[in-house]
Amino acid sequence: MTTSDQSSAGGVSDGAAGGKAVAAPDQVVLVVDFGAQYAQLIARRVRELRVYSEIVPHDITAAEMAARRPTAIILSGGPASVHVDGAPRLDPEIYELGIPMLGICYGHQLVAHQLGGTVGRNERGEYGKAVLNRLDGVDSCLLHDGIPSEQVVWMSHFDAVTAVPEGFTATASTPDAPVAAFENVERKMYGVQYHPEVVHSPHGMAVLEQFLHREVGCTADWTMGSVIDASVDAIRAQVGTDKVICALSGGVDSAVAAAMVHKAVGDQLTCIYVDTGLMRLNESDQVVETFQKHQGIELIHVDAGERYFEKLAGVSEPEAKRKIIGELFIRIFEDFARNLDDAQFLVQGTLYPDVIESGTKDAAKIKSHHNVGGLPDDLKFDLVEPLRNLFKDEVRKVGSELGLPDEIVQRQPFPGPGLGVRIIGEVTAEKVAILQHADAIVREEIAAAGLERELWQSFAVLADIRTVGVMGDERTYAHPIIIRAVNSDDAMTADWARLPYDLLERMSNRIINEVDGVNRVAYDITSKPPGTIEWE
Ligand code: XMP
Repeated sequence: MTTSDQSSAGGVSDGAAGGKAVAAPDQVVLVVDFGAQYAQLIARRVRELRVYSEIVPHDITAAEMAARRPTAIILSGGPASVHVDGAPRLDPEIYELGIPMLGICYGHQLVAHQLGGTVGRNERGEYGKAVLNRLDGVDSCLLHDGIPSEQVVWMSHFDAVTAVPEGFTATASTPDAPVAAFENVERKMYGVQYHPEVVHSPHGMAVLEQFLHREVGCTADWTMGSVIDASVDAIRAQVGTDKVICALSGGVDSAVAAAMVHKAVGDQLTCIYVDTGLMRLNESDQVVETFQKHQGIELIHVDAGERYFEKLAGVSEPEAKRKIIGELFIRIFEDFARNLDDAQFLVQGTLYPDVIESGTKDAAKIKSHHNVGGLPDDLKFDLVEPLRNLFKDEVRKVGSELGLPDEIVQRQPFPGPGLGVRIIGEVTAEKVAILQHADAIVREEIAAAGLERELWQSFAVLADIRTVGVMGDERTYAHPIIIRAVNSDDAMTADWARLPYDLLERMSNRIINEVDGVNRVAYDITSKPPGTIEWE
């Protein structure tokens, strides 16, 4: 039961998410998304300043906004021009709610446009670094207080504000943006044409901090500790004295979700770990040890390797393999879940990016599906989703605070079908053993080189072919291992990693010397696209 394939019910604007064990802190900053590639980054920056933040769609109404009672609103950038028909707008009544506001880029232009200022269409855009200067004769420039009067900022815009609305003061400019910042101190409304959220604006965090902590008065108390405390309370309120089950996959999300639920309801939680036989070397032992021994969680370890190998015998087509692996997982999980017939809740490790991706308004209307991930309809559970407001890096921090070891919370992504999609062709127990051994060497050497966290993924692939080699004067005829290492931000695109030659050499030597059945090592230098990260 991987989390990535679950449809996430509940929208980003539904706050406590209708009893899904999501904690709702007292202070929330809502980031209105105008289609910016940076909306998530803004929300993360606010959270880094220890203020809880969520993203809401730009068509949120004033009534919906007021109902969320945000401490502040940030309007994101976006690709549109305010002059274009159908360009996204903010419900004008939101400006009248008296909530402190910061507009960024398109958000800055929109505030000007909707409140009676002027946005000009520039002859040319301003992209990349620009020098921002505070305007002469402006005595207060609260956002930039304590920041050098001349600073480098990151710009990405075509239109520019040329006249501020009534009651506003222009406070800074760049060569192509005469009003690169403005403020209305009385209404606590601010705007910046540049992007304070990106690292290329070196004082950007200071500007956001000034807005949130000084102007708005947010308290910096959204910490991982506070997230855990609030989640524990929310889980207890949702679950009561009922029983909860969780499918552990060995991945970060299900592990942290399980640890959180266990902290909240202890023995009411039972985890089911389906060992497909397609896990990495010693991975299953580690899962069992961590959860059963160290966390003291009731764990059912289903050793299903043989069943998987039987089903996979003779199958080499990738989609057919995936289907078999997925369906067998569901069947085994279902059998065990039925035995725990008094369990009413199912833990899911859904994360905030899944929630955002699944949409906003529409998603809010979808009820949690009980048959998510292919579970049959008659197996009904309510979902407990304690991570649905967290980004991946926050989940890792929460995991560490809950006492999970680094090997689990810092691990690289691993596909649900496991080594089954890293053995090209038919999967057999013998090939799994070869690949586990080679993969362990790759992981050891990558870790020894200090690259494990830097790389998005690094692993070994076994091809179902054999090539000729020579070892100790003897002809060999054995499998090749392909090493795959990529850099990526989100797995949508990836770049093959330029690993040092000596590291590649060490891995190659060790694999050929230590792994029986392998006589050749290749390095995959394909990026995504055109390749995919996994080979199948
Ligand atoms: P590809 O190979 O499509 O992989 O570039 C993108 C990312 O997704 C992971 N992956 C999976 N994860 N179940 C998962 O939970 C799967 O079936 C699956 N297939 C690929 C892959 O490891 C990479 O991070």
